[in-house]
Amino acid sequence: MTVKPIVLQELPSDLDKSRLPQHVAVIMDGNGRWAARRGFPRIVGHQRGVDALKDLLRCCRDWGIPALTAYAFSTENWGRPLEEVEFLMTLFERVLRRELKEMMREDVKIRFVGNLAALPHSLQQEIARSMQETAANSGIQFTVATNYGGRQEIVQACREIAKKVQQGLISPEEVDEAMLENHLYTVGIPSPDLLVRTSGEMRISNFLLWQMAYAEIYVTSTLWPDFDRSQFHEALKDYQGRERRFGKL
Ligand code: FPP
Repeated sequence: MTVKPIVLQELPSDLDKSRLPQHVAVIMDGNGRWAARRGFPRIVGHQRGVDALKDLLRCCRDWGIPALTAYAFSTENWGRPLEEVEFLMTLFERVLRRELKEMMREDVKIRFVGNLAALPHSLQQEIARSMQETAANSGIQFTVATNYGGRQEIVQACREIAKKVQQGLISPEEVDEAMLENHLYTVGIPSPDLLVRTSGEMRISNFLLWQMAYAEIYVTSTLWPDFDRSQFHEALKDYQGRERRFGKL
């Protein structure tokens, strides 16, 4: 792993501390292309992607952004070649094991969202351990969407609510937005204010469909492993230049 010098340690002075997004979500696209352009196998791109994610997490903490969510593996990603899927599963497990101490030291509270029961057993154990051990931390909420699909999340929430209606615990009239939100994987985590997607694609790709209702979307052509603090600074400047109306005038 290469250790990059940490620049922009403090919040840049052209950003307004009182108008920072309180939750940033990222679609970390472009790892494979980053590697291919350098003649490396795709997995090298994923390894470098982890470094970029670690620095973004640290950056959010340094600059006072209390929540970061990263899309690590979608329900559609199982369609990739088996070796790549296996590599990613092993990478997630290794990273969790390796970084747990650091997360404790840096007061990170980690949570995984998605259909976790379908992940390899050893990864599920590592996920459970990291969530348990960091549960009382409060420095930054770090959410990792793994085997996550937005439509599937909404379907499973509806299914749980339907069961409660069937059991007579609630009536259909009581079903409202707050109740649906309380049955999503992300219960208790405020919706993202800003979605950053790297490598130029202008899509949401089934990520946090419900939660993204009023998120500002920022797309950069930078490939994920090259997304650093100065790029994030640009994204935040762009965000602060926007007027958020939430459907009002
Ligand atoms: C998209 O690039 C990236 C991924 C599918 C994996 C991202 C995962 C990480 C960076 C690791 C996170 C780990 C933990 C434990 C938090 P791509 O492969 O789609 O790139 P391409 O579009 O160039 O092919």
